[in-house]
Amino acid sequence: EKPTRRSFLTLATGGAIAVYAAATGGASVLSLRPRVTYGPPSRLTIGRPDAFTSGAQVVLPEAKLCIRRQGNRVAAISTVCTHLGCTVNPTDTGFDCPCHGSTYDEKGDVTGGPAPKALAWYRVTQAPNGELVVDKHETVPADTFLELRS
Ligand code: FES
Repeated sequence: EKPTRRSFLTLATGGAIAVYAAATGGASVLSLRPRVTYGPPSRLTIGRPDAFTSGAQVVLPEAKLCIRRQGNRVAAISTVCTHLGCTVNPTDTGFDCPCHGSTYDEKGDVTGGPAPKALAWYRVTQAPNGELVVDKHETVPADTFLELRS
């Protein structure tokens, strides 16, 4: 039987809808999945206080942190340069960035170079088991130290 104009258009339209549904259906199903990036955790357990010597600064390269201990107090300072994100190095007077020459004083305030703002300080807490925990989602004012439990 020879197809009529009407039956051909009905078949062509149905085929086009089927192709469209197949092409967009996969994308629609994928869009229902949450788009989450699993970056490094923001809460880091960095160890017991006695791992950090009083008067010294310890750089934790993986965590991009500088842990400063002064007597019975501990602080965590970001080592991420606020210019373009290079890792700064602690010095006797503060921090230096090897990439474009930014310098920071011991509180992390910018003293030279293109860095637009100070280094971040993060909240440090002490877990019930005595270990130190740094929360990189919670910044604190510069020079904020945790008083260690004895
Ligand atoms: Fe530190 Fe540019 S990334 S000065």
